[in-house]
Formats: sequence, structure tokens, C-alpha cells
Amino acid sequence: MNLKILILPGDGIGTEVTRAAMQVLGAVAKKFGHTLELSEGLLGGIAIHKTGTPFPKETEELALKADATLMGSVGLPEFDTAPPLERPEAGLLAIRRVLDVYANLRPVRTYPELVESSPLKNHVVEGTDMIIVRELTGGLYYGEPRGISAERGFNTMSYTRKEVERVTHTAFKLARNRRKLLTSVDKSNVLEVSQFWRQVVVDVAKQYPDVKLEHMLVDNAAMQMVLRPTQFDVMLTENTFGDILSDVGGILAGSIGMLPSASLGETKGLYEPVHGSAPDIAGQNKANPLGAISSVAAMLEYTFGLMKEATAVNEAVGKVLASGKVTADLRPKGKPATTEEVGQAVSEAL
Ligand code: IPM
Ligand code: MG
Repeated sequence: MNLKILILPGDGIGTEVTRAAMQVLGAVAKKFGHTLELSEGLLGGIAIHKTGTPFPKETEELALKADATLMGSVGLPEFDTAPPLERPEAGLLAIRRVLDVYANLRPVRTYPELVESSPLKNHVVEGTDMIIVRELTGGLYYGEPRGISAERGFNTMSYTRKEVERVTHTAFKLARNRRKLLTSVDKSNVLEVSQFWRQVVVDVAKQYPDVKLEHMLVDNAAMQMVLRPTQFDVMLTENTFGDILSDVGGILAGSIGMLPSASLGETKGLYEPVHGSAPDIAGQNKANPLGAISSVAAMLEYTFGLMKEATAVNEAVGKVLASGKVTADLRPKGKPATTEEVGQAVSEAL
């Protein structure tokens, strides 16, 4: 099969983790006889530096031509005080919107080998296997009106029926193939937009009688995730709540560096590790590439339907974890491995 993929390394550790992920992708292609048709583009701070905008037209064209896009991370401290629309992150928000990837799947599982890496007690995290479905192209991130003046700052959280319906269908379909439990997270005790969200989810649920639907308020959901994470199967939530809750997921998985994500729409797929650009460790060959590598596995599964290949990558990651050759964030017993060494080890384990 020919795999047409755009690579957007982005900023900070993005360059390093995508390089490791590409090495693994190359190893998969070789082993299973696929061809790679790769392009590379600019997104985020590096794009601002080179072209003056975080999401250049050329990147947009490349993304629309590719079947899937693999992104590293965006964000640079020098833009910390820049207005939202001129920051590196604006590039990421723009590409999500252009590709219309409204469903962001963020699997959170505790690998048995990493139970010790989580700061939570072993018996709490053991057996965690959940997936957060975060609505990705609506809510506060895009809502109008928005603005800032000397006396006021404001954003709008708004959802249309269609926006809630489509991501809810994605979540129910996932739950159907898992443990058949869907937890919809909202703040319907305070927000109209959440009451609306809940009504639409309840309506859509009628088409999935085989899946059990529960509702949970977002504050409680944050607490439940660290109290008893094994109670969750699929968690569905809006954009901002999903952003926050998925970082909590990093604690369950041992490190946020472990978490992959797949952003899916009707046609395109955008794959990105959940972690940010981590400027404090950028360029030091220290970053954990496993979130990016697992994002490649997700790409093979969701965009290309290559289940065997995806499973092979996930198993190779498992083997490397078992070998103890992991980066510092996972608190290994011996000397921490470098980003490159982990990428190399996963490729070899394939
Ligand atoms: C994420 C990140 C992004 C987000 C940032 C970098 C804009 O935190 O993917 O979780 O908020 O969506
Ligand atoms: Mg985030």
C-alpha cells in the first residue's frame, strides 16, 4: 500500500520525537512491504519564523493532499505574551479546523511495565484502559465572539447539534467495540451549553441501545480519574474539558510523553502526541518519543486500516518498555535512554 503522509515536526521536542516516529514508520514499511510518500511542512513557531504565519498556505495544501498528517508539537516560550491568533498554537488550531478533524481520540492505558512510573499508587492505576474522545473543532477554542480589551476578556463556548452529534457517534462506535460503556462529561449543573450537549448525547444514544450511557460532571470526572480510573471505558467530552482531562490521563499512563492521539474527521486524519513542545528539554535528545510512535500506530489503524502493522508497533513499544530502555520521564531504574535510543529500540523490536 502507498502511504501518503505529511510530517509537521513543529517546535521544541516535536522535531526529535517525530524523527524517532518516522524511523519506526520506515521500519514498518520495510517489514510489511508498503511504500511511503512523504512530505514535510512548517507549522507553529518555526513557521512564524520562516514565513510570518503559524499555518502557511503551503502547509495547508500539503495537508489537504496527504491522507494523514503526523505532527510533533507546537509552542515556543518567546510567544508567551503574544495574542492567541499570532501564537504557534494558532497554527495547530487552524490545521485541525481545515482538516475538519472533529474527534480527537486519546487512549489512556497503564502498561504493566509502567505501573511504578505513575506517582499514583499501583492498585489505583493498574488495569487502566480508557479512551478520551475530545471534541476538537468547536467550543471555547473557536467560539465567537471572543476578544480582549483593557477592561475585559471573553470567549464563547457554543455547540451546534450537528457538532455534538457527529463526535457522539464516533464515541458510541468506539464504545461498541470495547467494553460498551460511554461516560459523557459536562458541566450541566451550571452551563446551558452543557445542558444542550447532554440532551443531544441522550438523543444519539437511542441508536446505540447496546452501549450503556452515563453522565458525569467535569469536576467530579477529574477526581474520579485519579480515584478509580478503571471505571472508565470511553469518555466523551467537549474541547476544553478534554484538553484538561487528557493531561490527567498522563499521570495514569506514567508520563504524558506516553500518550498518542488521533484526530479524525470524515476523510482526513491528524496524528499528534498529547504532550507539548517542552522547551525546557528541547534539543537534548531526552524527550520520550513513545507518544509520537504510538501515534504512528494509530495512523496505521485509523487512516490506513492496517491492523496487523498497528499491532506490531504497539507490541514493539511494549517490548521496549519491558526492556527498561526508557527516557527519564518514566523514571527508569538504570540510566535513562535517549530519544534516539528509544526510537532505535522500537524499530529493532519490530
Ligand atoms: C493539546 C494541546 C493543545 C490544545 C495546545 C498546544 C494548543 O494542549 O493538544 O492538548 O490545547 O489543544
Ligand atoms: Mg493539552
